Amino acid sequence: MTLKGRNFIDLSEFDRLELRKILDTAHDLKRKQKMGEPHSLLKGKSLAMIFMKSSTRTRVSFEVGMTQLGGHALYLSPSGTQLGRGETIGDTAQVLSRYCDAIMARVYAHSEVADLAKYADVPVVNGLSDFLHPCQIMADMLTIEEHKGILEGTKIAYVGDSNNVSNSIMQGCTIMGMDVTIGSPEGYTPDSKIMKRADILSKKFDTTLEVVNDPKQAVKDADIIYTDTFFSMGQEESKEKEKALMPFQVNRDLVKAAKKDVSVMHCLPAHRDEELTSEVMDGPHSIVFDQAENRLHAQKAILALLI
Ligand code: CP
Ligand code: NVA
Repeated sequence: MTLKGRNFIDLSEFDRLELRKILDTAHDLKRKQKMGEPHSLLKGKSLAMIFMKSSTRTRVSFEVGMTQLGGHALYLSPSGTQLGRGETIGDTAQVLSRYCDAIMARVYAHSEVADLAKYADVPVVNGLSDFLHPCQIMADMLTIEEHKGILEGTKIAYVGDSNNVSNSIMQGCTIMGMDVTIGSPEGYTPDSKIMKRADILSKKFDTTLEVVNDPKQAVKDADIIYTDTFFSMGQEESKEKEKALMPFQVNRDLVKAAKKDVSVMHCLPAHRDEELTSEVMDGPHSIVFDQAENRLHAQKAILALLI
């Protein structure tokens, strides 16, 4: 089985063996990097990185990852390229394909990254769209495997706003055999498009997938509690949404309602004392900075396998 030449846009396009190969490669590359063993798998290769939105982790981890693999990454912003002056995504994709070995893009509308893939002759990696954040979830599953030893049968409870991160959790974690519960208030539950797709995956991989409106019910027996910002990039902030989501805050009380050894995750950036209290984020259950580190190792695996 080879992943060479594939796009990495939507986890539901991959099967369990393929995601397993990425995770195993990531564990191996992490070990090599920690031991100082050379792993210049992408010597002479270049990655174009298009950022339509801000980023700390995605930008730095992809750029450093390419350097560690012996390659090179270029940061491209709309204001610094002709994208900002109206050159189309399709033309940009064709041009970048003539210079670079892969394209990573962080976009607003999911259709933009799909369009890039349509026109590019090289692999396209989704570095976050309004619909999905697949690289994040690969890093998260790497982290869960490190902390819990196994993915299959492990329960993850995502509480808060249903968004790109929870959508990718519903896909990736289900494919890998985890039980997924989404705890969101009415009006902020997963949309029907992702629900339909995730239901199919859950049946195929014989896992539990449920959506509940009560945060304590969501985290019952959870091995992992996961949360994310109330307002994703590009979304308008509103008092009404904040009020609806506040009862879903991950705080000491909610952590107590899960398993004793529950781990708390957040893709970051966190809005301290909104979706997650500082007490929990800096406390013994939190593994948020391990997650952030693992962006590097997971994405190195993705790039090495695709390119
Ligand atoms: N988690 C994540 O994607 O972080 P950045 O927005 O900093 O890239
Ligand atoms: N849901 C968040 C994730 C940020 C990494 C957003 O889209 O802003």
